[in-house]
Amino acid sequence: MENQELLEIAKRTMQYAYVPYSHFRVGAALLAEDGRVFSGCNVENATYGATICAERTAIVKAISEGARHFSKIAIVSSGQDITPPCGICRQVLMEFMPKGNVVLQDKYGNIQEIAIDALLPMSFCADDIK
Ligand code: THU
Repeated sequence: MENQELLEIAKRTMQYAYVPYSHFRVGAALLAEDGRVFSGCNVENATYGATICAERTAIVKAISEGARHFSKIAIVSSGQDITPPCGICRQVLMEFMPKGNVVLQDKYGNIQEIAIDALLPMSFCADDIK
């Protein structure tokens, strides 16, 4: 699937963001290796700390539907600039798509694609528990 198509799905999903506190909408679209796409938005909470980012919403939806391997995730937001995934999301993305790429687009249409292992070098992973 082309980056542009994945980005469009991420943009459409932003409308469902539950953001009464930050008013900052984030949408993600995750491409599984079996071809399925799982979308996600951020879901905030009055405790703030219980907020779930769009990327992890997409991952959790996908895992619970039986998908395990992913090649790409597109992320967009209501902000002006690109929205790089937060540290927790990088760690979760690394778990399921260590060789995958993150596709980011800003309000002006500029696209950046970067490998997850470049965003989270020397990460803690399954091998480190052995
Ligand atoms: N947010 C995401 O959904 N993904 C990120 O990677 C960065 C932050 C959300 C969490 C919160 O709802 C809002 O953006 C402001 O931090």
